Amino acid sequence: MNVISEKIKQLFFDTFSTNPTIVRSSGRVNLIGEHVDYNGGFVLPAAIDKSTYLAIAPSDSESGKWISVDFDKSVDIKFGVFKPIPQNRWAEYILGVVEQFYKRGLEVIPFNCVVTGDIPIGSGLSSSAALESAVAFAINEMNEFGMSRNELAKLAQQAENEFMGVKCGIMDMFASIHGKENHVLRLDCETLDYEYFPLNLGDYKIVLFDTGVKHNLVDSEYNVRRLQCEEGLAFFRKHFDETIPNLSQVPLAWLQASRSQLNPVVYNRCQYVIEENQRMLSACEDLKVGNLRDFGIKLTATHEGLRNLYEVSCKELDFLVDAVWHESAVLGSRMMGGGFGGCTINLIKADVIDDLYARLSMLYKEKTGIDLKMYSVVTANGTEIIQ
Ligand code: GLA
Repeated sequence: MNVISEKIKQLFFDTFSTNPTIVRSSGRVNLIGEHVDYNGGFVLPAAIDKSTYLAIAPSDSESGKWISVDFDKSVDIKFGVFKPIPQNRWAEYILGVVEQFYKRGLEVIPFNCVVTGDIPIGSGLSSSAALESAVAFAINEMNEFGMSRNELAKLAQQAENEFMGVKCGIMDMFASIHGKENHVLRLDCETLDYEYFPLNLGDYKIVLFDTGVKHNLVDSEYNVRRLQCEEGLAFFRKHFDETIPNLSQVPLAWLQASRSQLNPVVYNRCQYVIEENQRMLSACEDLKVGNLRDFGIKLTATHEGLRNLYEVSCKELDFLVDAVWHESAVLGSRMMGGGFGGCTINLIKADVIDDLYARLSMLYKEKTGIDLKMYSVVTANGTEIIQ
């Protein structure tokens, strides 16, 4: 138990006069394999030591009260009704998950809950996926539905796709639910087979620099990228092999042979995805043999692809990457997650982090007027009941 969970336990008890179950679920980083999860490729995420906490217990009626400590709001919910909850988007993440159980024919015992956490919201560290994962996990336990962690990750993804209308892939929920301390997980998003890799960074640490911006484009452009990838895949199925399972597995030679027939933008999107999947696989080999230098170089190459071919970066992210990647104490630097804001992920030698942060925040403030935030994170376990 830690301070945060003690606090919501107390709040839950004061409000509902009963003791809750407390579930913790992490945010995530992704080392490499960006924008390939919905293209059936490989990703390398990890759960981190920043979490969402959910205190939950059955209510004794047909309705429940849900409380968000961080937004200082509460809503009364009638179970079995699935309508948007204007002004309380945080509660829609919970409701979307409840709805998915109903869609599977599983009626959920009405519950009260309190939510809080220390994952920065809107920074691209998947606080929403952590909440959805925590709720899915808690409902599964409370109702003894016996669903596997993989099924819960899929259910949480569908909640985000259907109730929230964001066509995200499965990476964020999967990482939150399956994370393992001191490990990254290499996930095949086509089959959902996964493998844990020990993460030995030696003198280096995972450092996130938060742009402090989230451009409005993020959801709409995300969905556009998905459509462009689907267009590319349909082309390769038609002209090369109708059984190719996904875009990540398209050979680069097919793409190069199609330059004159493919829309140039779609061509670039496909090039990025195919190259990123290959880069990710060889980055895993670097990690296996402890070649952190080459691993870092690939991270930075991913940023170039996301910036120039996939076009999901933004000037703030580019500024933060450009300012640090060439420093000798930095193994690699790139934007992370969906893009258009959020954080960069960097592998930086521990003893220079404070100095680098001081210099970078001055430059960033000068350039954008924004105070740069930094999070030094370590890997953590996946969704769990902590009390
Ligand atoms: C967001 C989505 C993920 C994934 C990343 C990009 O975080 O939620 O599913 O597509 O963007 O890799």
